[in-house]
Amino acid sequence: MNKLVINGGNPLSGSIEINGAKNAAVAILPASILASSGICSIDNIPDIEDVHCIEKILKSLGCKVKTGKNLVVIDSTTINKIDADTDDVRKMRASYYLIGALLARFKKARVELPGGCPIGVRPIDQHIKGFGALGAKVEIKHGCVSVSAEKLVGTSIFFDVVSVGATINVMLAATLAEGITTLENVAKEPHVVDVANFLNSMGANIKGAGTEIIRVVGVKELKGCSYSVIPDQIEAGTYMIAAAACGGEVIIENVIPKHLESISAKLIEMGVEIIENGDSITVKSKGRLKGINIKTQPYPGFPTDVQQPLSALLTVAEGRSIINESIWESRFKHIDELKKMGANIKVEGRIAIIDGVDKLSGAIVKATDLRAGAAMVIAGLIADGTTEVLSIDHIDRGYPNIEDKFKALGANIKRVSYVE
Ligand code: EPU
Repeated sequence: MNKLVINGGNPLSGSIEINGAKNAAVAILPASILASSGICSIDNIPDIEDVHCIEKILKSLGCKVKTGKNLVVIDSTTINKIDADTDDVRKMRASYYLIGALLARFKKARVELPGGCPIGVRPIDQHIKGFGALGAKVEIKHGCVSVSAEKLVGTSIFFDVVSVGATINVMLAATLAEGITTLENVAKEPHVVDVANFLNSMGANIKGAGTEIIRVVGVKELKGCSYSVIPDQIEAGTYMIAAAACGGEVIIENVIPKHLESISAKLIEMGVEIIENGDSITVKSKGRLKGINIKTQPYPGFPTDVQQPLSALLTVAEGRSIINESIWESRFKHIDELKKMGANIKVEGRIAIIDGVDKLSGAIVKATDLRAGAAMVIAGLIADGTTEVLSIDHIDRGYPNIEDKFKALGANIKRVSYVE
């Protein structure tokens, strides 16, 4: 097993490059299943465990998958299986996108229920509602979702909750349906737009992604294409927060500053200087920052995926900060780990009340989930003494080369293997 060992206290300086967006890549790779001719060549793919997992799943279905540096080339004309039932499928959340993609192309699929971070109940009722409205029969039995349809027919669907996964999944299913599908109360996250752009590059007819209403005009077939994934908003936000927490000046390259506005606004409110420069952002911070209040919300609100990294910074901000986690009901598991380092935090349901302390001190802590892991790394970077972050397989699912990136900025961090 591996752990990260961090000696805190170094300011960060220099520049780092952000990789392609995990939550776009994990949808775009399964979406390549929709190509009944040609090959999908997808660039700016992050080198993370969740991507490796999807590559293995696609191979298990019969796709030919070749990989290069940040590149995945998929030939899905050779698919010979619509049953996704391997351990990899059960391990990750995004395997639910196999349902929408296989249903659209083959009119049936059997996919084991997805896993992912333990941050809440994570129902998929809105995905099922969408597939059903398009004409599919959906059955969930023994932890497996089976869908089938004679044909899929476009319709109007109003989602009960704003869901990234349901928006993308039903959009996938609607691409090859007969007629027009209108999706309302949809998620507007940058990765939803990226998946729509990818599908349009394959020949789909999707308009409105990024707004309140998405309109999909069904087409007869989709083909392979070349595409480059957008930069990762959450990875960028994590490094912005780390730079703010450690002090110093860091240039974060390969970002879309517009996607980072809700994060920039909160850091500026804390006293951080943020300079936008085309496709990079400079974060400058010195001295103690001020506590703030945040409420996580669907895009363009403050992203839940950045809540945990930000909470690490708030532990040492001046005064009281209040976090209202409105998306996931169990996204405060990292708080007990932060407390082991001296943080003063009370959790009441979906609210965390943080009273800033002068310093955190190093401790042995766990990454309880992916973004919790990033939070613990940031806490280690600002703490006095040595912090060991265990269970970093969670971090490896979503952050490429995290220790190398922080090392390049001057942090004292290393990966160490150990036996439990
Ligand atoms: N929800 C339902 N029914 C559904 C679907 C969702 O009630 O059918 C609820 C959820 O319980 C939650 C809210 O709607 O309260 C939003 O869930 P959403 O469907 O948007 O989440 P997701 O698609 O499962 C993706 C990301 C998450 C990110 C959320 C919110 C992927 C693979 N995962 O999850 O990313 O937190 O959107 O932005 O795209 C992460 O990267 O660390 C991560 C957890």
